[in-house]
Amino acid sequence: MTAAPWWHGAVLYQLYVRSWRDSNGDGYGDIPGIIDRLDHLSWLGVDGLWLSPTMPSPDVDWGYDISDYTGVHPEFGTIGDLDALIAEAGRRGIRVLLDLVPNHTSSAHPWFVDAASGRDAEHRDYYVWADPAPDGGVPNNWLDSTGRSAWQWHPATGQYYLHNYLPGQTDINWWEQRVHDEFRRILEFWFDRGVAGFRIDVAHGLYKDAELRDNPPALTPDDLASRFGQRTVYSAHRPETHGVYRVWRKIADGYAPPRLLLGETWTGDLAALASYYGNDDELQLSFNFPVVFAEFPDELPDLIEQTMAALPPGACPVWTASNHDVGRFPSRWCHGEPASIRLALLVLLTLPGTTVLYYGDEIGMTDVAVPAELQRDAMTRGASPQRQRDRGRTPMRWNDTPAGGFCEPSVTPWLPIGPAEVNVADQRHDPGSVLSLCRRLVDVRRAELSGGLAGYQRVKSAPGVWAYATGSLLVAANLAATPAPLPAQTGEILVRTGRGAPGLGPAEGIVARRQAD
Ligand code: NOJ
Ligand code: CA
Repeated sequence: MTAAPWWHGAVLYQLYVRSWRDSNGDGYGDIPGIIDRLDHLSWLGVDGLWLSPTMPSPDVDWGYDISDYTGVHPEFGTIGDLDALIAEAGRRGIRVLLDLVPNHTSSAHPWFVDAASGRDAEHRDYYVWADPAPDGGVPNNWLDSTGRSAWQWHPATGQYYLHNYLPGQTDINWWEQRVHDEFRRILEFWFDRGVAGFRIDVAHGLYKDAELRDNPPALTPDDLASRFGQRTVYSAHRPETHGVYRVWRKIADGYAPPRLLLGETWTGDLAALASYYGNDDELQLSFNFPVVFAEFPDELPDLIEQTMAALPPGACPVWTASNHDVGRFPSRWCHGEPASIRLALLVLLTLPGTTVLYYGDEIGMTDVAVPAELQRDAMTRGASPQRQRDRGRTPMRWNDTPAGGFCEPSVTPWLPIGPAEVNVADQRHDPGSVLSLCRRLVDVRRAELSGGLAGYQRVKSAPGVWAYATGSLLVAANLAATPAPLPAQTGEILVRTGRGAPGLGPAEGIVARRQAD
C-alpha cells in the first residue's frame, strides 16, 4: 500500500523571504531569519513552506528574474544556509518548496547574455526572437504585464525578443530541446538537496504559439483569461506545455517521498485549471484563482462545488486567498472585518485538499497602503491601489515595536511595516485572537483531514447558512447578517469563530463532529 501524499489535508505557508525576518540588519528578510523563527511555524502546525524566489536575481521583479537557477541570492544567505533551513525545518516535520521560474529568465542570465551576443550564439534559441513585421513594427499584438508591447527591439542583432513580463524578464523558448534538458538538471539539483517540490511560476506559460499568431480580443473585460483586452490564447495555455509537466511529474515521482509540483495556473476557467492535473500525470496541485478573486463569502459555496466537479477524480484541490501579487484576503475578501476574517480562515482550513496560507494570514494582517515614494514594485508602480503589489508584501509583524520584530530598531525595513496592533506576540497568548483560532483550525485539520483526500458534500441547512461535510467534520458558516440555527447533523463543536451559542451568530462559523443523519 502506498501512503497518501503528504500534501493531502495539509497546510502550506507561503513565506515571502524578503519580508519575514531580517537577521543581519540590511532591512531585507533572509534565510537565517527564517531559521530563527521556525518555531513559530511548528507551533502553528504547518506542513510545508513555499519560499518566494530564493535564487540570484537582479531583482527587477524581486526574484522573478533569475540569473542563476542553482544558486541562492546573496542577500538571503548562502546555499549552506538553505541546506540548514531544509534540515532544521525537516527536524520539525516541515517541508520546504522553492519557487521555480521556467517561463522566463533574467536578461542578466548567462544564457541570455550569450543569446544576445549574436544570431549564431550557442544559446540564441533558448529565447523567443522574431523579425519585425513587414511594416517594420513589432512581430505581433502580444502585450506584457504592464500593457505595453511584449516585444523588445534588440538593435545589436536586428530582432525583437519576447518578454511577457518586464523587458528584463526574457521569455524562454520551450520549442528548444536543450531548454528541457537544462530544467531537468535544475529540478534534480534541488530535489537531490532535499527540496520537497516547487511552486511553478507562470505554469500556464512556457510554450508560445509556434506561428506567434495575434491574440484575439477578450470576451469580457478584465476577466482572468485576458490581459489588457486580449485573450492570451497564443501567448499562454498552449497544449504543448502539458508535455513538460508529464516529464517533470515522472522526475518528481522518482523521489521518495515524491516531490511536489504546485502550479501558478492563472485562469478563470475551471476546466483549464483541471487540465494541469492531467490524468494524474502532470501537476499534483494547481492554484485556483477564481476562488481567490471570488466575492467572499457569497460566491464561494457555488464555486467550491464547481471546482470539485471540474477536477479529475482523486485530484487534490488547492485553497488560498492571499499572495504577494493579489494582496491579502483580510482586505480583499473581508474589508478588515474581524468576524469575516475569522470565518474566511475557518473555511480555508476546513476544505479538503491543500490550503496555502500567506505569511501574516495567521494573524489577520491586512494590506498596507504604501506611499508612492516608498513603493518597490516596478511592475505596478503608480498602478491603482488594487493592483499595486507592495501592499501585500510588507514586513511580518512579530510584535508591536516600531520595527515590529522584523529587523533591529535602528534599521529601516525595505518596505514600511503595517499597524502595530495586529502582531504575533500579542495574539499568541490571547485565546480569543485570530492566531489562536488559526492554530486551532490547523490542529483540527491535521487531526481530521490529513492522511488522505476527504470528500466534500453540501449539507442541508437554514437559509443563509453554508454547511458542508468533509471527513468526520461538519462545517457551517452563517453568511447572513442575522442569527441562524445550526444544521441538524451538528455534533460536538470543536471550533467556533464567534461567541455564538446557541446557534450561529451573524458571520459566524463552526467546525463540529458530524452526527449520522
Ligand atoms: C507571477 C509571480 O507571482 C509574480 O510576482 C511575477 O511578477 C510574475 N509571475 C512574473 O514572474
Ligand atoms: Ca537581511
